[in-house]
Amino acid sequence: MCGIVGYIGKNKAKSILVAGIKKLEYRGYDSSGLAVIEDGVILCKKAVGRISELEKVLDGNCDESNIGIIHTRWATHGAPTYKNAHPHVDCANKIALVHNGIIENYNYLKTKLQKNGHILKSETDTEVIVHFIESYYEGNLEDAVRNALKEIEGAYGLAIIHLDEPEKLVAARHGSPLIIGIGNEEYFVTSDVSAIIEYTKNVVYLDDGELVVLTKDSMKTTDIDSLPISKRIEEIQWDVNQVQKSGYEHFMLKEIYEQPQTLRDTMLGRFTTDNSVVRLGGLQDKCELLRSINRSVIVACGTSWHAGLIGEYMLEELMGMPVEVEYASEFRYRDPIIEKNTMIIAISQSGETADTLAAIREAKRKGAVVLAICNVVGSSIARESDCGIFLHAGPEIGVASTKAFTSQIVSLFLLTMHLRQISGKATDLDKELVKKLKEVPSQVQSIFNNDKKIKEISRIYKDSSNILYLGRGYNYPVALEGALKLKEISYIHAEGYPAAEMKHGPIALVDKNMPVVFIATKDATYSKILSNIEEIRARGGKVIAIASEGDSEISKMVEHVLYIPETVDALTPILSVIPLQLLSYHMAVMRGCDVDKPRNLAKSVTVE
Ligand code: AGP
Repeated sequence: MCGIVGYIGKNKAKSILVAGIKKLEYRGYDSSGLAVIEDGVILCKKAVGRISELEKVLDGNCDESNIGIIHTRWATHGAPTYKNAHPHVDCANKIALVHNGIIENYNYLKTKLQKNGHILKSETDTEVIVHFIESYYEGNLEDAVRNALKEIEGAYGLAIIHLDEPEKLVAARHGSPLIIGIGNEEYFVTSDVSAIIEYTKNVVYLDDGELVVLTKDSMKTTDIDSLPISKRIEEIQWDVNQVQKSGYEHFMLKEIYEQPQTLRDTMLGRFTTDNSVVRLGGLQDKCELLRSINRSVIVACGTSWHAGLIGEYMLEELMGMPVEVEYASEFRYRDPIIEKNTMIIAISQSGETADTLAAIREAKRKGAVVLAICNVVGSSIARESDCGIFLHAGPEIGVASTKAFTSQIVSLFLLTMHLRQISGKATDLDKELVKKLKEVPSQVQSIFNNDKKIKEISRIYKDSSNILYLGRGYNYPVALEGALKLKEISYIHAEGYPAAEMKHGPIALVDKNMPVVFIATKDATYSKILSNIEEIRARGGKVIAIASEGDSEISKMVEHVLYIPETVDALTPILSVIPLQLLSYHMAVMRGCDVDKPRNLAKSVTVE
C-alpha cells in the first residue's frame, strides 16, 4: 500500500509533492522518490528510509518544474533499497512512473522485456510497466500507456510523465485507489485525498479501467480503449486528520474494516485460475527443501503466536505434520531440540520483534530451515530467514494487531496447501478449500452488519472488571486473541481458555459479574461447548456467544448471540475473530482509552 502524488499546473511542483507525500507516510515509509521535468531532462531523486531522507536529497534540486510525481513505498516485491524505490524510468530516461499495487504477471513480462533488450535495474514488479510504455511509445503517451496496460495483470494506480510531452501527466487505475484533484489552473493525482485536501476539495475518483490525461488547464478521462468517460466532480467533506483514517475515528477501526480488502491482497496472484495450484513466490525454489521437512516449530509473540496455534492445527490436520508452537522468548533460551529436517516458522507482523529475531538466529545456529511469515518486506526477520511469505496487508498502524492476524491465518493456510501440493497429498478437496478461502473476504464484510449490535453489547459490559473468553479446537486460539485484544486496548482484565479446561479451576471465578464470551460455531466439538455454556450459566455467568448463522438453538441458552457465516474449521478463526476485534474496540472507546496507542505498549517490541 504505497503513497502516490502527481502535480501539473501553474505552481512549482516540488513543494506541493513533498508536502503531499508526507501526509501519506503512514501508508508506507521504507523508501521514497520524486521525478520532475526540468531543463530538458527527467530529474529523478530517491532515498531509502523516511521521507525526511528524500528531503535532504531534494534540497536545492528540482525547484523549477511545474510537473512532477512522487512516491512513498511499502515494499511488496524487492527489499526497500535505492534501486527499488519509485519513480522507475525507462531505458532512455525519458519516462518516469510511480505505482501503487501488485503486478501479478511481472515475472513473465520481465522476461519478455529482457528478451527485447530492455535493461531492468530493480527487483520490483513496477519497473515492467514503464518499460512496456517505452516499447509502445510512438509520440503519444496516453496511447502508449493504454497499450502497455493491456499486457498487465494485477492491481495498479499509476502516474506517468514523459520528457517529450512535458505539458502532460497521465494516470490510470485498476484495483488501487486513484483520485484526481481539480484546482485553478492545476491538477493533482493521488492515492489518498489527504495529500491534496489543503489545495482542493474538488475531486474525481477514478474507477477501474479508467485513464486520465491532465494538462494544467484540462482533464480528459477515458476507458482503456480511449472511449471518453464523463466523471462527476465530488467535494470532500473530511478534514486532513480524518482523511488519513479514511473517515474512521481510529486507525484500528480502519484496519478492522480494511480486512476484506487485505485478505484479498494476501491471496492476490497466489492461485492458478482453476484454483488447483497455490503459487508462493517466496518459496518457489525451496520445494526440495520443504519436501524434506518432517517437523515444524512455530515461534512468535502475542497475536502472532495465536496465529501460530491456528497454523499448528492446520498443518497437523491437513498436512499430517507434527508441529509445536513456542513463545519465541522461551524458545530462544531453552536450548531447543532441532533435528536435521526441522523447519522453524517465524510469524511476525513487524519482522522486528526482538525475541522472534533472536529465536530464528538460535534456530539457524542449530541448522534449522527458517520460513518467515511477515508483513514488512526488508524487515530483519524477513531478511535473515531462508524463505518466506509476505502478508501484503499494508502498514498496520494501530498497536493492536487486527488485519495482520487474519492475513497471517490466510498465509498459514496457503503454506499448508502449498506443502500438500509439493508432497503429493493434494486431492479434489484442495480446490474446494481454495474456493472456501476465496469466499472469506465477503463473509468478513457481512459480519460488519452486526457492528451496531456489537456496540450495544459493548456498552452493557464496558465496566466489567474481568471477562473470560472460551473456545475449543480452532476457536481456542481465537479465545486467546479476543482476550488479548480486550486487555491491550480497554485495560479490562480478560483471559482466554480452552472451554473444557474451565472445570479444572477457573470456573471458580464465575458468578453473575463474570461475562463469558464463547466462540461456539458449528464444528466437531459444538455439542461439548453447549455443555460448557450450561456449566457457566448454572453459576450465574452472563454469556455472549459467537455462533454460526442459522443456529437458533444457542440463542435460547445465552444473553447475546453474534452470528457469523459458516466455513471450513481451519478458516473459521478469520470470521470468529471479527466480532471480538469490534467488541474490544468499542469497549475501549467507551472507556476513553487511546485505542491506537494504548498505554505501556509499542507497535513493535524491538527490546527483550
Ligand atoms: C498484538 O495486538 C500486539 N500488538 C502484540 O501482541 C504483537 O502481536 C506482538 O508484539 C508481536 O508483534 P509482531 O507480530 O510484529 O512480531
